[in-house]
Amino acid sequence: MEKLENKIRTLRADFPIIKNSGYAYLDNAATTQKPVQVLEAEREYYEKRNANPFRGVYDLSEAATEAYERARARTAAFIHAGKAEEIVFTRNASESLNLIAYSYGLSCLKPGDELVVSVMEHHSNFLPWKMVAERTGATLRQLKCAPDGEITQEHLAEVLNEHTRLVALTQTSNIFGRVNDLRSIARQVHAVGAVLVADGAQSVPHMPVDVQSLDVDFLVFSGHKMLAPMGIGVLYGKYELLEKMPPFLSGGEMIETVHWDSVRYASVPHKFEAGTVNAGGAVALAAAMDYIEGVGFDVIHAQEQRLTALAMEEMRDTPGISIIGSENPREHMGIITFLVEGVHPHDVASILSAEGICVRAGHHCAQPLMDHLGIFSTTRASFYFYNTEEEVRRFTDTLRTIRRQMGYGE
Ligand code: ALA
Repeated sequence: MEKLENKIRTLRADFPIIKNSGYAYLDNAATTQKPVQVLEAEREYYEKRNANPFRGVYDLSEAATEAYERARARTAAFIHAGKAEEIVFTRNASESLNLIAYSYGLSCLKPGDELVVSVMEHHSNFLPWKMVAERTGATLRQLKCAPDGEITQEHLAEVLNEHTRLVALTQTSNIFGRVNDLRSIARQVHAVGAVLVADGAQSVPHMPVDVQSLDVDFLVFSGHKMLAPMGIGVLYGKYELLEKMPPFLSGGEMIETVHWDSVRYASVPHKFEAGTVNAGGAVALAAAMDYIEGVGFDVIHAQEQRLTALAMEEMRDTPGISIIGSENPREHMGIITFLVEGVHPHDVASILSAEGICVRAGHHCAQPLMDHLGIFSTTRASFYFYNTEEEVRRFTDTLRTIRRQMGYGE
């Protein structure tokens, strides 16, 4: 345990905001802090290799292209994709999901088809599918979960049928923090001939993800939730699916030839990357992946579990607090969403903020889940490996005083 704490202390020195600000940053499900190694990788790209990738035949442009394509290969290796061409760089997970919806969804669905979306999805994995249903005449069906966040095989079997064409599901909910068993879900989804779109925004930063072994058809995630800068995201898609999909955005460098009367699009993945790409962001994302693998998912998991278990134990001992989702800290993946009886979540977050503790309050872009659970708003603390026991105690100690501060007895 002491060894783990020492390692975490050393790692914290890599994060300027953590080292210098004094904040207890517990809003990692919203975005993570950035280590100097990642910031330096982006800076090094702009200082030494910057030119517009793919455009020039001069050395600098070729260096930029090479750096960008190396980042693609690094990303493929990180999630165990079969080939680098299965990785499309986007701005973020939301854009990746919109790409699938506008390209695959609008071209492959028709009236009578069914789309299944879980009730726990972030709006980013719900609204694009609602749009697809409205525009194609396909039916949108809801996959429900139990109050502890579990989606049962039986319920999934009830919702799937021969009309199902696509299932959209998160690997880890940004409210429950619980991991859905994508491998077995993919098997059920494929058995009816549908494709599985997985949202990995809350899972890829925290656990090893192997897209081939999970057999998901698409997986999306954002760089900024895994130590990389904002503005770089990833879409993984099985090659044969990406190949038959039409482009999403049109513009520069996504074509082979353009004439007034005819266009031939570039091959996968370039046909999905219109305009100048975020090469610096991709290089930084690759550096973030190196950093995360350097820390090791075993260390990440051990520290998140330790902090989650400690926080939940302290919170259970505090009157008036209820935790959303499972009672088992192992089913929270570093995310604890909670209510303080009689106190508005924004007041909870403000009181914590006064103590330098950063958490998120509101509906967390998951309003259908809030409706399903019969609540309006919550507060959420979310940990990453660089958080410490001391920060968790600061958080739970402040929580203990909140109801008193708001005029309630213990
Ligand atoms: N999707 C991010 C969150 O859940 C912003 O906080």
